[in-house]
Amino acid sequence: MPFELEIDEFERLTDLIYRKAGIRFEQKKIYYIAKRLEKRMAEVGSETVMDYIRHLKFTDRDGREMQELLNSLTINETYFFRDFNQLQAFAEDSLDTVVTQKAARGDRCLRIWSSGCSSGEEPYTLGIILQEMIDDIKRWEVEIVATDIDEVILDKARKGIYMSRSVKDVPKEYLAQYFTRSSGFYHVNQKIKDMVRFDYLNLNDRAVLRKYRGFDFIFCRNVLIYFDDVSRRRVVDHYYMALHEGGYIFLGSAESPTRINPAFKLKKTANHMVYYK
Ligand SMILES: C[S@@+](CC[C@H](N)C(=O)[O-])C[C@H]1O[C@@H](n2cnc3c(N)ncnc32)[C@H](O)[C@@H]1O
Repeated sequence: MPFELEIDEFERLTDLIYRKAGIRFEQKKIYYIAKRLEKRMAEVGSETVMDYIRHLKFTDRDGREMQELLNSLTINETYFFRDFNQLQAFAEDSLDTVVTQKAARGDRCLRIWSSGCSSGEEPYTLGIILQEMIDDIKRWEVEIVATDIDEVILDKARKGIYMSRSVKDVPKEYLAQYFTRSSGFYHVNQKIKDMVRFDYLNLNDRAVLRKYRGFDFIFCRNVLIYFDDVSRRRVVDHYYMALHEGGYIFLGSAESPTRINPAFKLKKTANHMVYYK
């Protein structure tokens, strides 16, 4: 018999997911969920959806299975130099402003958070941009903290090995300079890998989230689209608190930080809007 997920089962399950991760799945996603759920049920040996939900609620004490389920449901689409215009605004405007201000104060420490980093293309892109844009980068202490809820994707990110699809938007000269090609794969060079630290972080885990603060730039692009208004506001309020005065936030191009938290200030650059504290 083909596997079917009833509406009330879908609601119970997505409610558990929402409480754990803050991600809200709408009913139109029922087939997407059903396909992945069927695999997870086979893996743990649950015969019915209700058995599986009971397992998540009562016997999955260390949260292993909930994590496996989340790993299979998160959408990890990403690539190097995604949203080029926004990155150009970062590289040519915001980064320069912050670097100039900090250097004038004798503060040569730069901290960037790539929140919802997926397989690592975004934080490594930021590493490349810093190498290119900061003339005296050797005199700076730079840390790029990259976090995600999906442990499987974080393992991939730490390896830093990509297929050609991921690097399609990397300018040719950067591809030659920051990657090594081997057996058809692109390996991110060690110099860039050393700039990035990958951590597991569930943005809905408020206690752990609180520890992430003291950043000059926060990137959280194409992540909050899966959140409902309440969780989205909570996370963006945290980002405000976690930024230094004068620090910048970059959300996905369809997401406006000021609409979520009006305290952010807006600045027009040559071809983009940027938001800062
Ligand atoms: C579409 S990718 C975005 C990757 C990258 N920021 C970009 O724009 O190319 C979304 C990422 O958000 C992560 N994510 C979703 N919900 C999360 C949560 N509650 N906490 C942390 N990461 C989450 C997913 O695992 C996924 O890797």
